[in-house]
Amino acid sequence: MTNPQIVEKTIAFVKSTLKGAEGGHDWFHIQRVFNNALLIAKDETNADPVVVSLGALLHDIADPKFHDGDESIGPKTAREFLQSISVDKKVINHVVKIIENVSFKNDFEKRSFSSIELNIVQDADRLDAIGAIGIARAFNYGGFKNRELYNPGIPPNLDMNKEEYKKSKAPTINHFYEKLLLLKDRMKTASGKKIAEERHQFMHAYLTQFYDEWNGRK
Ligand code: ADP
Ligand code: NI
Repeated sequence: MTNPQIVEKTIAFVKSTLKGAEGGHDWFHIQRVFNNALLIAKDETNADPVVVSLGALLHDIADPKFHDGDESIGPKTAREFLQSISVDKKVINHVVKIIENVSFKNDFEKRSFSSIELNIVQDADRLDAIGAIGIARAFNYGGFKNRELYNPGIPPNLDMNKEEYKKSKAPTINHFYEKLLLLKDRMKTASGKKIAEERHQFMHAYLTQFYDEWNGRK
């Protein structure tokens, strides 16, 4: 199979596997991350475009949040699929490493693997968590979890560990301070940083407007 055929097959597999997924993790999230990743990869000439493409397409194939916290299902699903279409073993191993390491929480832990392709996919995924789309996804998630939009009596808590964060029922606005506004400084690639900077400014403008409206100022 040629590389474009491998990518086409993978797109079809991801689309059918994610049928019915919730709005923050559906095919369109994958499509945006895929496009972001290809955009960033244009400026990273050493990156392997096939590994970037497959990593982006398969990075959320089984989110542990929706599989009882089981982090092994995504990598396993991806490996089995790629083997079934006879992808090169080295490519499969690299893509699986990307899936294992891409999530936000693995940045708190020591990353056991690093590559330019992982940096690209991770930046692409983070770009989809900020800016206008990031705001939409945050409130979508908050609604799914029945959270308040905002509560002036519950300030953001920047000192939570991973477990506390998962259990937190904090309003969605807090998520901006606890996560979204921190992402710009965690970007790894040059073009990822540049796009993140613009989206970061947009979130600040959004918050200013939000508080103005909340307080009846405009
Ligand atoms: P991804 O799978 O894209 O790496 P996550 O699974 O961490 O991202 O989160 C999916 C989306 O839900 C992101 O846009 C993220 O900001 C949002 N989200 C996650 N946790 C919360 C939360 N506590 N409050 C609001 N939004 C959240
Ligand atoms: Ni994602």
